[in-house]
Amino acid sequence: MVVLSMKHISKSFFGVPVLSDVSFEVEEGEVHALLGENGAGKSTLMNILGGVYTKDSGTVEVNGVNLENASVTESEKAGVAFVHQELNLFNDLLVFENLFLGKEILYKTRTLNKRAMIARSRELFDDLGVKINPKSLVADLETSQKQLLEIAKALDANARLIILDEPTTALNTSEIEHLFSIIRNLQKKKITFIFISHKMPEVFTIADRYTVLRNGFFVKTGRISDTTPQELTVSMVGREVSDKEIYARRAPGEVILKLDKASGPGFHDISFEVRQGEIIGLTGLAGSGASNLIQAMFGVIPFSGGSFTVFGKEARTYGIHQAMKVARIGMVPSNRKENSILPFMQILENEYISEHTLSSRIQHIFIKQEAAKYHHYKEMLNIKARSYRALITSMSGGNQQKIILARLLNTNADIFLMDNPTQGIDVGAKGEIYKLILNLSEQGKTIVVNTLEIPEIEKVADQCVVFYHGRIHAILDRNRIDETTVMLHATGAVPPAGVADEHIHME
Ligand SMILES: Nc1ncnc2c1ncn2[C@@H]1O[C@H](COP(=O)(O)OP(=O)(O)OP(=O)(O)O)[C@@H](O)[C@H]1O
Ligand SMILES: [Mg+2]
Repeated sequence: MVVLSMKHISKSFFGVPVLSDVSFEVEEGEVHALLGENGAGKSTLMNILGGVYTKDSGTVEVNGVNLENASVTESEKAGVAFVHQELNLFNDLLVFENLFLGKEILYKTRTLNKRAMIARSRELFDDLGVKINPKSLVADLETSQKQLLEIAKALDANARLIILDEPTTALNTSEIEHLFSIIRNLQKKKITFIFISHKMPEVFTIADRYTVLRNGFFVKTGRISDTTPQELTVSMVGREVSDKEIYARRAPGEVILKLDKASGPGFHDISFEVRQGEIIGLTGLAGSGASNLIQAMFGVIPFSGGSFTVFGKEARTYGIHQAMKVARIGMVPSNRKENSILPFMQILENEYISEHTLSSRIQHIFIKQEAAKYHHYKEMLNIKARSYRALITSMSGGNQQKIILARLLNTNADIFLMDNPTQGIDVGAKGEIYKLILNLSEQGKTIVVNTLEIPEIEKVADQCVVFYHGRIHAILDRNRIDETTVMLHATGAVPPAGVADEHIHME
């Protein structure tokens, strides 16, 4: 049975067509992968279904009911729930307040029944196997917990058709597996999913059918079991994408970054060294401390003990400005919407802003020069944008992420800290980003990448530091980096490795 039928959908923004005569059909109880490069039109199509955007032409039917320019509420009433690509939570509210926003449980006296809402939140999280305290402030959650909270919110909406627009960008392998088991259970109850992801292994694990869009046009649809990742990639990108080994061993320089028994919020007793031109991959499960460590190194959160030296100088008490200016560190934060983009600023402004905080003596901004640099990065990273004067929020998620990478490159820092740098970047462009990372290291840049995708580490890293419960569990040389070994350490299933004895703490 067809639950969703979108026919001949067209949509333009400012006269630029974004969707052209797209038809899209989804059957009851299936997981349907919606695929395509960054800017292909996936989120726009789903925003039309979810009542966020109005279409220019075409029809939308959900369960045989025509949704003519439905609002968000009408679309929800028709049984559609939408987990957006970017997080949509209120950081200043508590977890349960976010969950019940607009559908609060009330006493007969019309006052808030907090107790019932907290109890219901607990039940929901228990069902989903998610470890979140309903009474926590959302601002205090980790990015992955926020993503899980968004998913929980949709699952609680009694929806029949759930749109998951890149739901796993902040989740690690085991959290993704867990999400998939929840999806499979709901499928048994005939709940239908539209699943957008740039991670091919995920698509092949969970999806039954797929539809590919390219440049706003429908390309093809079919059963996942009748295709291969290579074939799908070609129909998305329009050409072969090479999956060649790109890693090349380089001779690392002297030690420029050193952590000695460093501690801070969520990480303890961290010791390792990074040499000039090295690429270090950090990884671990949620709350493992790797992301917090990166934030502390950039001065976002404070260290509480130990030492952190850069070029031999203690940098433990630096704030962000000193980290950038004195220690010559640059960073890509995880969680683009909250920590990276300036939503009310233009693309160009978003790109040059970091570099400008460094060159504080000259207050002028020379647009011509900035535009020239922007065009350089646009070419290099294959950024799709109408005009650099447009707001950054008018770009697709993956293209916003590329601007954030350009912002980092533009600072010309010596040390690049990258927290989940390829979040939302498509299959074709990811390879280019890995090449870029290797190129940077060949130019003598030192790079620390925190990522939940182990294949990413396998592609570029000279060493992998695996975190477990806030401590280092293993430091693996390149020849020992593989998915199984890393996962065994990340879950604490094997004894610590490669870590000096004095630093080992068994849980
Ligand atoms: N509000 C908007 N104003 C102007 N242009 C927009 C707006 N929303 C989307 N677009 C444009 O529509 C095109 C398709 O964007 P969309 O977000 O649908 O891509 P996507 O397939 O979801 O890509 P990604 O994988 O990067 O998330 C992009 O070129 C984007 O710039
Ligand atoms: Mg999108």
